[in-house]
Amino acid sequence: MINRSCLSIILAAGEGTRMKSDLPKVLHKIAGLPLVCHVVRQVQALENSEIAVVVGKGAEEVSSVVRDFSKSAKIYVQKERLGTAHAALAAREMLVQNFDDVLVVFGDTPLIELASLNRGRDELANGADIVVMGFETENPSGYGRLIEKDGKLQAIVEEKDANIEQKKIKFCNGGVMALNGKRALSLLEQIKNENAKKEYYLTDVVTIGVSQGLDVRAITIPVENVLGVNTRVELAEAEALWQKRKAKELMLSGVTMLRPETLYFSYDTEIARDVIIEPNVFFGRNVKVETGVVIHGFSHLEGAIVKTHSEIGPYARLRPGAILENSSKVGNFCEIKNAKIGEKAKVNHLTYIGDAEIGRGTNIGAGTITCNYDGFNKWKTIIGENAFIGSNSALVAPVEIGKGAYVASGSVITEAVPENCVAFGRARQINKEGRADLLRQRFSSMKTKNSL
Ligand code: UD1
Ligand code: CA
Repeated sequence: MINRSCLSIILAAGEGTRMKSDLPKVLHKIAGLPLVCHVVRQVQALENSEIAVVVGKGAEEVSSVVRDFSKSAKIYVQKERLGTAHAALAAREMLVQNFDDVLVVFGDTPLIELASLNRGRDELANGADIVVMGFETENPSGYGRLIEKDGKLQAIVEEKDANIEQKKIKFCNGGVMALNGKRALSLLEQIKNENAKKEYYLTDVVTIGVSQGLDVRAITIPVENVLGVNTRVELAEAEALWQKRKAKELMLSGVTMLRPETLYFSYDTEIARDVIIEPNVFFGRNVKVETGVVIHGFSHLEGAIVKTHSEIGPYARLRPGAILENSSKVGNFCEIKNAKIGEKAKVNHLTYIGDAEIGRGTNIGAGTITCNYDGFNKWKTIIGENAFIGSNSALVAPVEIGKGAYVASGSVITEAVPENCVAFGRARQINKEGRADLLRQRFSSMKTKNSL
């Protein structure tokens, strides 16, 4: 396949009315990525491949999302939705370029895999002109049926045009089609709209090809590869299948998951081998976890890097810009945002660290807060190596705490603490002997009818 060029046309102009949404269907997300971008991602991985995306409903929004995701994808607008063949022809400018292989895929079919696309290309390389990617299902309703004679594909009949016998067929059109690139444009141009929906059906290339004696084939690909998302129920199904796939891939690469079905990954989550993940952990976009890390239950990560042998949670929240250096610890009910936690540093309980740098080996006591925001601007807190911040301290940024410094519990620190200093930022304690009993007497005699 190395020397064969390929054009992938992604059809994403549909109305998506069944989503009942203001957002164009293909921009709904699974694993944190719009449906259409999942498809772009798979076709991008094909060798020698260029991409055309056909947009229609919400053209501007869809184009801008696709452009942000893939600089090289070309965008074409289908002004009227006259059917899948009509949509593919919107990319005429590229179809005339005589690619060896042309793949037509749907933007609302996010689980399509590179392996299936490559199987279509393999058939083309072996002389096929038209390859239909089919699947078997017990519930074929809604899909085009593949009509075969002596094991050879003859036609695809859409549900609306099918007779009772044809409706019983369980071999269905997944929607992905691979076409001989030298013939694709001419085949698409021959398609007419003589059918129940008065649409130009891409699927009609099959009868046209057969009538011209071309090599037309159907192959079977895994059913979830062609799961189309039309409703929010199918969106959730696609999400579940995607999550299952990702969890499996990670486990096979050496990640331990105590209850994989309770975890949520994003499309770009990276987790190295020998990481252990307890139940109920959420990975938002852009998270990287290095080897040997333990993630305890109910943690929530987004835009974070967790370096080797660190430990987080239970109930840790890592927000964008959180970087945990090797062997550091972030414990329960701690929130870290745009902050670096140094090697072997510990932030173990009930703490907020935002816009900060914490040195190597430093211990942050329970309930510490970096006060980074004054209602207008965000300010930075810098804490040197091997420092100790006593529990329930407020560090009012901008502020710097030197190496080895010691902040007494309950301090409000508003000024720099130099290296090795002990800082007390709190009122001094006074003990009054015997006063407790006097106080009790006074309070008990104060009982009035107004007391609650
Ligand atoms: C299509 C196939 C059917 C197959 C099914 C698999 C045709 C005629 N039918 O039916 O055989 O079993 O997919 O899911 O191809 N689109 C456009 N412009 C248009 C029409 C559609 O861009 O004018 C896009 C849609 O956004 C969608 C895709 O093409 O991504 C498929 O269109 P849809 O109307 O959903 O086709 P199905 O009826 O599902
Ligand atoms: Ca569909």
